[in-house]
Amino acid sequence: MTTEQDQIVEQSQLGNVGDLSGDSLLKVRHLSVDFVSIDGRVHVLNDISFDVKKGEIVGLVGESGSGKTTLGLASLRLLDSPPAEILQGEIIFDGKDISKISDDELWQVRGTGMNMVFQESLIALNPVYKVESQLGESIGTRNKKNSLHTDKETDKSEMLRILRELCLDKPDMVLKKYPHELSGGMRQRVSIAMSTVQSPRLLFLDEPTTGLDAYVQNRILSIVKQLNREYGLSIVLITHDLTVASKICDRIYVMYAGRIVEIGTSREILDKPFHPYSESLLAALPSGFEDSPPLPVPGGEPPDLKHLPQGCKFNPRCIYVMDTCRTDEPDLVNFEGRMVACWKYPSTAKK
Ligand SMILES: Nc1ncnc2c1ncn2[C@@H]1O[C@H](COP(=O)(O)OP(=O)(O)O)[C@@H](O)[C@H]1O
Ligand SMILES: [Mg+2]
Repeated sequence: MTTEQDQIVEQSQLGNVGDLSGDSLLKVRHLSVDFVSIDGRVHVLNDISFDVKKGEIVGLVGESGSGKTTLGLASLRLLDSPPAEILQGEIIFDGKDISKISDDELWQVRGTGMNMVFQESLIALNPVYKVESQLGESIGTRNKKNSLHTDKETDKSEMLRILRELCLDKPDMVLKKYPHELSGGMRQRVSIAMSTVQSPRLLFLDEPTTGLDAYVQNRILSIVKQLNREYGLSIVLITHDLTVASKICDRIYVMYAGRIVEIGTSREILDKPFHPYSESLLAALPSGFEDSPPLPVPGGEPPDLKHLPQGCKFNPRCIYVMDTCRTDEPDLVNFEGRMVACWKYPSTAKK
């Protein structure tokens, strides 16, 4: 491991690992979402419950197609309907059910409450405007929401300060660039700047390091950890890479086929994954090359959500499969202080 990585892991351990006593800033309860198209209906999220405490970094980890982005978008009430259909569930942010608030309140919540840095920063940023005008627009929106009035000079020095904080060494040069003139890592940081300028209390980061080299990945993760420590910003880190999540997350939710299959601290899941799928994710990490992207998960292709098997959805890929797994789906239950959905564990056993 590099020194920087060690530092990140250490910082994460010093954080609030395992401390679930604090209040939940975001509570999602029994959320089920379908996507409906002319080809039919697909269950994308199935009875998902998850929590983010104040000041916590939570990881949503699973292969592509497991529903991570959909869960992030649904939490912010950003899913387009159609094609999305919310079948059930509550999303409570700071004590308020966000499905019941007015559009005005929702607009407030999205900026200064929750915010999301989307995957693919090249798509998320507007290609025809320079960074300065896009960041300026974010500041303008923030000011409007908070009834603040600032002049252009103050805004400019704020932009320079934020970019500098995000380790962009020549912020004045960055402001003059169009998104395509920046590297992937720089674009990602500009996207983070545009979200954090609104001072949200909770930030979703969707695959913020995917496609970036190991050095830039670690820098971005350090920055995210720093935002969390200095400003108490709660973070949901969406990633397919268990190593990335384990570097900064306090707790990890492992997702498979639109379900949560295990919840534990990063350390617990890295040291001793309980769910066979978490074990497979770990097995996909190239040993001795912690900075390399994960290999394909052993046991075959990710599931086709349109043709999921009966019973446990992971059963066709599971090396521990038993008869029950092919007929009944296990609930997410407490086993030795961790939540896991697998028939291997005694507390899951049918009464
Ligand atoms: N707008 C959409 N219309 C139809 N299906 C969608 C849409 N967005 C996502 N899906 C489907 O939902 C499933 C979960 O997608 P997503 O949440 O993007 O997963 P992840 O982020 O874990 O890769 C996938 O099968 C995907 O094809
Ligand atoms: Mg995604």
